[in-house]
Amino acid sequence: MSLGDALGLLVSSGKGGVGKSIISIGLADELAQRGPTAMLDLDTRSPNLPYLLGMSRDVRIDAAGNPFPKVHDFRGHAVPVYSNGFLAEDGVPVTMPGEEVRSAIAGAVVAVRWPDGIRWAVLDVDPAPGDSIAASVQWFRRLAAFVVTASDVSSVQDCDRMISALREAGVSVLGVVGNMIRGTCPHCGAAIAYGEEGPASDLARRRGVRYVGSLPWHPDFRNRPLWAVENLGGAVFRDMADLVEEAERRWNRSGGA
Ligand SMILES: Nc1ncnc2c1ncn2[C@@H]1O[C@H](COP(=O)(O)OP(=O)(O)OP(=O)(O)O)[C@@H](O)[C@H]1O
Ligand SMILES: [Mg+2]
Repeated sequence: MSLGDALGLLVSSGKGGVGKSIISIGLADELAQRGPTAMLDLDTRSPNLPYLLGMSRDVRIDAAGNPFPKVHDFRGHAVPVYSNGFLAEDGVPVTMPGEEVRSAIAGAVVAVRWPDGIRWAVLDVDPAPGDSIAASVQWFRRLAAFVVTASDVSSVQDCDRMISALREAGVSVLGVVGNMIRGTCPHCGAAIAYGEEGPASDLARRRGVRYVGSLPWHPDFRNRPLWAVENLGGAVFRDMADLVEEAERRWNRSGGA
């Protein structure tokens, strides 16, 4: 069995810095409570997952040179995680052309020593995801996606394009997730509105997908990402995981998502 037998869940946006990695972590955290989950960092050129999860780079390699994933504990559930960031030294640029990115992803799916029986593989996607989507479609038999957006027009536009790109690649889009749209001042408790939910929820409605809701802006997502995911993201991540399970049931009934 390879990781490609799991249901691959792309967390994409088409735009950098909107919170794909944070939302991938939250989704993996929630899914891990429900069944065997893995995380794969498809951001091969600028991998942030090891930093965000507080994981060191001491990856174990087998006699044939294939790496083992590292295990992260999500509220008592062990999740194998693999990232190119386990191999790339800090400050050293990763300037792989597209074909190398695709073969690095192929290696991460088939050569990394994943445990058997993974049900869901959360895939943290890079901001320029042509190669990572192409590689995912090639290596995962079943794929679904979420798109993450902030409230500004440029982010919503990029997500709109991303929904088209995913559909053209045959990937089912389960929902749009907003991020950093609203928050509460950590000092005085006043509401902060960086934007409105409207553009993100309108995009979802226009494209015929669910608007899952949005993750609040809060400084702890930057300072203590895991703490913030577990304490501030609950409802959004539970709703995302419910959509995953619903899609999986549909898939099992019909042979497609
Ligand atoms: N809800 C939030 N509140 C405050 N800060 C946040 C929130 N979500 C994400 N951040 C911060 O914004 C930055 C970007 O988040 P993240 O790395 O998840 O984005 P990304 O879309 O994965 O970026 P990239 O395109 O570089 O992969 C990080 O510093 C993260 O901690
Ligand atoms: Mg990221």
